[in-house]
Amino acid sequence: MTSQGPLTTEAGAPVADNQNSETAGVGGPVLVQDQALLEKLAHFNRERIPERVVHARGAGAYGTFTLTRDVSQWTRAKFLSEVGKQTETFLRFSTVAGNLGSADAVRDPRGFALKFYTEEGNYDLVGNNTPVFFIKDAIKFPDFIHTQKRDPYTGSQEADNVWDFWGLSPESTHQVTWLFGDRGIPATLRHMNGYGSHTYQWNNAQGEVFWVKYHFKTDQGIKNLTTDEANQLSGMDPDSHQRDLREAIERGEFPSWTVQVQIMPAADAATYRFNPFDLTKVWPHADYPPIDIGKLELNRNPQNIFAEVEQSIFSPAHFVPGIGPSPDKMLQGRLFAYGDAHRYRVGINADHLPVNRPHATEARTNSRDGYLYDGRHNGAKNYEPNSFGGPAQTGVPLWQPVQVAGATGNHEAPSHAEDDDFVQAGNLYRLMSEDEKGRLIENLAGFISKVSRDDIAERAVNNFRQADGDFGKRLDAAVQELRSK
Ligand code: HEM
Repeated sequence: MTSQGPLTTEAGAPVADNQNSETAGVGGPVLVQDQALLEKLAHFNRERIPERVVHARGAGAYGTFTLTRDVSQWTRAKFLSEVGKQTETFLRFSTVAGNLGSADAVRDPRGFALKFYTEEGNYDLVGNNTPVFFIKDAIKFPDFIHTQKRDPYTGSQEADNVWDFWGLSPESTHQVTWLFGDRGIPATLRHMNGYGSHTYQWNNAQGEVFWVKYHFKTDQGIKNLTTDEANQLSGMDPDSHQRDLREAIERGEFPSWTVQVQIMPAADAATYRFNPFDLTKVWPHADYPPIDIGKLELNRNPQNIFAEVEQSIFSPAHFVPGIGPSPDKMLQGRLFAYGDAHRYRVGINADHLPVNRPHATEARTNSRDGYLYDGRHNGAKNYEPNSFGGPAQTGVPLWQPVQVAGATGNHEAPSHAEDDDFVQAGNLYRLMSEDEKGRLIENLAGFISKVSRDDIAERAVNNFRQADGDFGKRLDAAVQELRSK
């Protein structure tokens, strides 16, 4: 927009004075007829929309995904159809628990929400920088988040709430071990990996099904902050991560990630040693080795943070032909939660905004109107079937059906041969160097020791004891020592 010409009201009329409001006489009260003033104050009052209920704090950038390997044996998605093919993307990074204005350098998972603007519609992969998660059923998510956010009475995050919930939810042990380890506070958004985390379905032109997990391995190398470094940085430069990302892109230092997938043939799923749809578990690489399939580069900064980052929307339910959901109970809950959040937070026409609408095709729906509808469909008929050349259904589902068995009920996800809540947390601990173990225990003990009740501390420690005896023993000693001070 040009900066030339007169300042105007929203209706375009010139504004005579933007320094002094209009009064009844010199020194008198302000007049209602000063519409430039009233409009300006009213617009200002409405500048904020509700912040995201989680992942409120974030930074985004546009980029390019380039396919480097033929994957057509596993999926018929067109954007994944030809080596060398490029797709425009938009990636939003975030922290989870903090509010919009909170500091970047904190111990928290990082969101890694990626939109591919494909020729078959937008494909969103709404992941984190961690391959697993704290819980495995969507019904626990609001309770979990309540413990991470501000307590209704104190208005602060409370160690009691956090450790009470984690202690009583042993399936969180793996993710908590990860979070309090070295990777829990990335040095920048460029120096960390991203993961799709859930298992998704890929299906090929022959209708064969594969289960897939996505990994985005940073080409910048992994770099982290210690707790002390992060505490200092949060105070001195709360915007450290978003500034680093913007400045790197401005300098032409485009961050990139090598994109990998783990592929499981559908027939393996029933007998795999871990439930492949359990979000608290990884598929060890020895079982399903990651395969390089592409490169993701971020190369363009948004020009307006509110329009392009705050109003951006990502949904795990945004699939394209050849890609679909798995029966992971967390993912199934998320398929509902995001669209619902967008309709509340940004509005029913959020999909029409430049950052959110398809860029490589167009949306052709019969939905119309609602707040801030821009009239894009002109006079086209708004029903289907119609005989006026309107868009028609294809009859081709995006994904293949999944076999189910048994009666409806509030079932736990099935347990496979080696499934328990602790095995992979123990494996992760045993993989760490002695130094890493020391820092992990110090980080955990520092937080657990803040709880007000011994039983909450003991239950929390007991989960790590079950993951690994040495882990539990050392953590117990460290917590006791801090609590006795
Ligand atoms: C059932 C569990 C979950 C529910 C109900 C849930 C719900 C939500 C909601 C309501 C939002 C805000 C959306 C918005 O206002 O635009 C959000 C954001 C987000 N969630 Fe989840 N979430 C769940 C689990 C997860 C998991 C497992 C991951 C990662 C593996 C994840 C990653 C994200 C990310 C990255 C964002 C930020 C998206 C953005 O940048 O706009 N969530 N979640």
